[in-house]
Amino acid sequence: MTLTKRFVAEVEKVEGDTHILLITTGSVASIKAPLIVSELLRYENVKVEVVSTKSSLAFFDAGEIEKAGSRVWTDEDEWAGGFRIGDPILHIELRRWADVVLIAPCSANTLSKIAHGLCDNLVTSLLRALAPTTPTYVFPAMNTLMYEHPLTAEHLRVVREVVKYQVVGPIGKTLACGDVGLGAMTEWRDIVQIVVDKFNLVRREGPE
Ligand SMILES: Cc1cc2nc3c(=O)[nH]c(=O)nc-3n(C[C@H](O)[C@H](O)[C@H](O)COP(=O)(O)O)c2cc1C
Repeated sequence: MTLTKRFVAEVEKVEGDTHILLITTGSVASIKAPLIVSELLRYENVKVEVVSTKSSLAFFDAGEIEKAGSRVWTDEDEWAGGFRIGDPILHIELRRWADVVLIAPCSANTLSKIAHGLCDNLVTSLLRALAPTTPTYVFPAMNTLMYEHPLTAEHLRVVREVVKYQVVGPIGKTLACGDVGLGAMTEWRDIVQIVVDKFNLVRREGPE
């Protein structure tokens, strides 16, 4: 089945559904995206859309996300060309649609961009246009030394105190690069659980 790449919040938003926007950025932990999406879709009245930076697409197969019943939106969709006044603007439509935003994983680069207010791609334009009332969770994931870099602490402070996002993790473990220490993304099941608890989601009955 070919899924349409046009997105209009008014059409896509269903009363009573929980609309979850998963943002993936260029950290290895993006490989968990298909698992997060499939697991969230095992709950009743849940819709998931995924917005990915170019780098994050190296770490998972967008086809897997589509097979699970979601879609992956990229800069190419934002800049499809031929814009006319009145056409939907993807980053605005996606932020209108979202009940909750998960930035999982959040790379050092995107973290820095958020802290500085940059909006040079679909992910960061969407975040700059997001209503402050939309709950937004950041799950940093990076090499230990990137995490321990003094700028990371400053970016996290701004993201927490000024931008008012909730920062969860990172956790300590052996990272994909072989280093052992803080920097890994919060376990994907714990990320799903945060949303389940927040919206009191009910698991669908039937086969897994
Ligand atoms: C194989 C590979 C793994 C990477 N892993 C990470 C990572 O775990 N965390 C991170 O912050 N950056 C990581 N990077 C670097 C980012 O992908 C890079 O900074 C990129 O510009 C991030 O762009 P984005 O924030 O737009 O996704 C990795 C790069 C490569 C090539």
